Amino acid sequence: AKKAVLGPLVGAVDQGTSSTRFLVFNSKTAELLSHHQVEIKQEFPREGWVEQDPKEILQSVYECIEKTCEKLEQLNIDISNIKAIGVSNQRETTVVWDKLTGEPLYNAVAAPVSPGSSVPVAVVPSGSSVPAAGTSSVWLDLRTQSTVENLSKRIPGNNNFVKSKTGLPLSTYFSAVKLRWLLDNVRKVQMAVEENRALFGTIDSWLIWSLTGGVNGGVHCTDVTNASRTMLFNIHSLEWDKELCEFFGIPMEILPNVRSSSEIYGLMKAGALEGVPISGCLGDQSAALVGQMCFQDGQAKNTYGTGCFLLCNTGHKCVFSEHGLLTTVAYKLGRDKPVYYALEGSVAIAGAVIRWLRDNLGIIKSSEEIEKLAKEVGTSYGCYFVPAFSGLYAPYWEPSARGIICGLTQFTNKCHIAFAALEAVCFQTREILDAMNRDCGIPLSHLQVDGGMTSNKILMQLQADILYIPVVKPSMPETTALGAAMAAGAAEGVGVWSLEPEDLSAVTMERFEPQINAEESEIRYSTWKKAVMKSIGWVT
Ligand code: G3P
Repeated sequence: AKKAVLGPLVGAVDQGTSSTRFLVFNSKTAELLSHHQVEIKQEFPREGWVEQDPKEILQSVYECIEKTCEKLEQLNIDISNIKAIGVSNQRETTVVWDKLTGEPLYNAVAAPVSPGSSVPVAVVPSGSSVPAAGTSSVWLDLRTQSTVENLSKRIPGNNNFVKSKTGLPLSTYFSAVKLRWLLDNVRKVQMAVEENRALFGTIDSWLIWSLTGGVNGGVHCTDVTNASRTMLFNIHSLEWDKELCEFFGIPMEILPNVRSSSEIYGLMKAGALEGVPISGCLGDQSAALVGQMCFQDGQAKNTYGTGCFLLCNTGHKCVFSEHGLLTTVAYKLGRDKPVYYALEGSVAIAGAVIRWLRDNLGIIKSSEEIEKLAKEVGTSYGCYFVPAFSGLYAPYWEPSARGIICGLTQFTNKCHIAFAALEAVCFQTREILDAMNRDCGIPLSHLQVDGGMTSNKILMQLQADILYIPVVKPSMPETTALGAAMAAGAAEGVGVWSLEPEDLSAVTMERFEPQINAEESEIRYSTWKKAVMKSIGWVT
């Protein structure tokens, strides 16, 4: 007999840069009942290029859904209790696909167009592997640096043109320039646009279109939070901006419909959850803000994933930063509900540095091992590691930065480097927290954190020491998925999640207090800043 559950269940896809997960929560308590996770490949076909295969991403979503449902069945939980599905995703990563075939249109063999030619030159750098299917340009990808430089020379009016409409600086990070690159360099994309077959989307759009039927009536949409990361979306009017599309040369007909973060977009077309509505959609950082219940002006959270993202809710006001933070849409939980904005401090490399130590240096075999190494020494012994692999994001926005490890002596060993890598995540967070405090005027009294890395206790203690304020983490670190599930469960026509604190009774909190003295914390932080200065200007 199937076990009785306490309330309706809600599933959430969390499609991150490093992995895909599907998780199922009880909507009455937020208890996580079952989940499945699959790691996602990242291709680095050239220095600075980062690509993923959209079909592998889609496949991983199906696999996670099917495996989670099998696990629920083994627990005797009836999957027909799943009433809705939310989607949260890595933001900015750009996909263009063919609406008639469902195939992504960018292949790894496409390289920049040679001068005077309109056909991409097929170059595969030696030693690199070629993804089997089309690839998406990942948010960390730096190939658009020259596109950005060229665009910045012809910004109309004042330099504030892009920022005042989008809240974003002109940077390789956001989708518009990635899409511009695809339109300039990939013949298949150009042809599909000419023949009215092309659809553009960030990962949420690609997934929702595919999961709701793809070529057989898939819904081409995105939500306001994901749209706000494209650099084509006006965050005041909440519409695609015609002037921005003209500036970037983007045909508006390939853009998805923009919807709220909580409404029924369509139904699952296949698999174990066929017929279940997809009714929540948020960029992962917005989803975490919702999952942490940061619904009030001034409430903030920091999520440690591939990168690290500190978001502070600024209510219905768009606050523009003087200190290198982004203004972004936080959420809009329903068609007729008001929009909320956030200030965001974005750090490109956090968990990715651990993956680099594992995959590129091989000094750890699994990500969890880093805690053991760091614990062995309890100090970096004067070693500082600035992981500026994709330049530096907030507060510097320095594409010329590259990673450095400095302060090495003959005494330094892999444990010190492991410790320095963890410290780097904490120092970068301190930099964005300082910027946030300066912009908001009222310093945060504690930091709410979440994400996979928060299970590392050394990291959490270091973070409290370096920020010199308490760090508070939920017992269940999958806050991003929880936020997407909450949005899906609260949607009109679903109505199984109330978004009240009592519906999160299964989530308890753990607190880390600073344990070093303030002076020591300041000395370490100022040495870190010296190291950052050395990383800037490494490439020109
Ligand atoms: O803006 C990029 C961000 O959404 C990526 O998130 O979880 O993959 O670090 P994550």
